Amino acid sequence: MSTSRRKFLQDTSKTIAAATLASSPLLSFAKNRRFSPNEKINIALIGVRGMGFGNLENALKIEGVECIGLCDIDRNILAKRASDVEKIQGKAPMQYNDYRKLLENKDLDAVIIGTPDHWHCLPFIAACEAGKDVYVEKPLANSIAECDLMVKAARKYNRVAQVGQQQRSGAHWQEAMAFMKSGKIGKLRKVNVWGNFNYGVGPMSVADEPVPAGVDYEMWLGPSPKRPFNKNRFHGSWRMFWDYGGGLLTDWGCI
Ligand SMILES: NC(=O)c1ccc[n+]([C@@H]2O[C@H](COP(=O)([O-])OP(=O)(O)OC[C@H]3O[C@@H](n4cnc5c(N)ncnc54)[C@H](O)[C@@H]3O)[C@@H](O)[C@H]2O)c1
Repeated sequence: MSTSRRKFLQDTSKTIAAATLASSPLLSFAKNRRFSPNEKINIALIGVRGMGFGNLENALKIEGVECIGLCDIDRNILAKRASDVEKIQGKAPMQYNDYRKLLENKDLDAVIIGTPDHWHCLPFIAACEAGKDVYVEKPLANSIAECDLMVKAARKYNRVAQVGQQQRSGAHWQEAMAFMKSGKIGKLRKVNVWGNFNYGVGPMSVADEPVPAGVDYEMWLGPSPKRPFNKNRFHGSWRMFWDYGGGLLTDWGCI
């Protein structure tokens, strides 16, 4: 089914209301903005390797959405993703290594943040300050203090902001929740939740090594402690280290 721009905005509105991030949802997207329903929405992606790119691919299926920028601290992945986007939409996005430069782009309406968890808070707040709407991957951040600041920023700058949680917005999930809440299954006494697998664990313990060419490792570390480069703590497998994430519990257990 092709989702129209109006439907996209309506759905976004509903999800945001559910996430209680923005007090007056969607309609900041639709009302306060310079475009009419016939114009396009310019988006960009910060952190292009994994989930962020999946989100972008889905966003680009929506009529009227165009990716005008990609930002990553790894130039190798950035170049590959720029070529992927060009194949999808027939137009290459601008490439950035620093999200602060990307956010200076006046044509940009919204950003997707697909960076590791230790890098959600700062770009999120900067995007709100720059007047961009935000779709940020889960978990929102690594501490309640960071989350509070992010919610405050979204409200202060009247931004539409959504946390990327799977299994929330689809009609069948909503129907399942409505069924649970209807009381038809009786009183819930116990819920078991488990995840007995090692999602996101690196292959093995490996020695530190020089930073790979094309990688701005200082920027990858960002607000986390300075450490020598180690593949096990980098792309994809950072989530098992407290400096960057909270393991499977905050990864799959966040709500
Ligand atoms: N919703 C879901 O089901 C789901 C699934 C997987 C991952 N995630 C979330 O998505 C986020 C990304 O996870 P991933 O597995 O794709 O990680 P990843 O390590 O594969 O990709 C992260 C990308 O961000 C880039 N990056 C790091 N710091 C940056 C910075 N300062 N500026 C720009 N780019 C930067 C990295 O170079 C890398 O390309 C995490 O928050 C994770 O929890 C969500």
